[in-house]
Amino acid sequence: MGTPPANPRKKVTIQTLRSLHRRQEPIAVMTAYDFPSALVADEAGMDMILVGDSLAMVALGMEDTSEVLLEEMLMHCRSVARATKAAFTVGDLPMGSYEISPEQALSTAIRFVKEGRVQSVKLEGGKEMAPTIQKITTAGIPVLGHVGLTPQRQNALGGFRVQGKTRDGALRILEDALAVQQAGCYAMVLEAVPEDVAALITSKLSIPTIGIGAGKGCSGQVLVQTDMLGNFPPGRFLPKFVKQYGNVWGEAHRALEAYRTEVKSGAYPSPEHTYPAPKEEVEAFAKAIKDL
Ligand code: KIV
Repeated sequence: MGTPPANPRKKVTIQTLRSLHRRQEPIAVMTAYDFPSALVADEAGMDMILVGDSLAMVALGMEDTSEVLLEEMLMHCRSVARATKAAFTVGDLPMGSYEISPEQALSTAIRFVKEGRVQSVKLEGGKEMAPTIQKITTAGIPVLGHVGLTPQRQNALGGFRVQGKTRDGALRILEDALAVQQAGCYAMVLEAVPEDVAALITSKLSIPTIGIGAGKGCSGQVLVQTDMLGNFPPGRFLPKFVKQYGNVWGEAHRALEAYRTEVKSGAYPSPEHTYPAPKEEVEAFAKAIKDL
């Protein structure tokens, strides 16, 4: 697992992201939650790796993202950071760790950098978060914004609903996007927004938009790794925008079932999976313990 790749990539920095955006090359972002999921995302060439608070549900089995604690996020950030050599890393500020005041947010963001070892932080919200974003970025910590559907506010939004479907709704998202850009974000996540609206909003911004359920008019895309790998039991609800690129659950299930069957039948372990010892030593050992 720790073997370095043959041709290590150059480290992705804020400047790299700006240059990708200038060249109109889509920015590839993936979530990761621990050492192996970050290692594979980094080696697969992601530009950015996000330790999203979606880990509450997909890695910790919680009901929603509001349950995950700051300390838990920091622990996951640390394990992702240990695996990530090239991608630009982002830690998601969990609900309750940044909304009270810009000072609280800065203090949390500093912990993400010092203890979580990530290179930037993400926070949800629009124009009301502008002073907070300004406070964090002024201290030298890059901030990834998040507008449109903001899952931490699902109770206020009436659930996971597509945002910006009307003229006024779309104008509100644009207003939020312009405010977080003005406050100093280097990019922003645009979640669950109709494709045409997301493209128009993107065209009005000078920083990249990273879409999730927002179509191809965004400057980049992000998906939840567990979803796109198909690492969940059959029948689970998946949002419309998720494309399943793999069937990790199916493969893991097949392998685990085969192991169980072979343990029960005695087919595993076979001689090639065991350590030999000289015959005379084993005989001597057997003799030594015979009368115990
Ligand atoms: O928590 C998360 O994983 C996210 C992304 C899906 C944008 O916020």
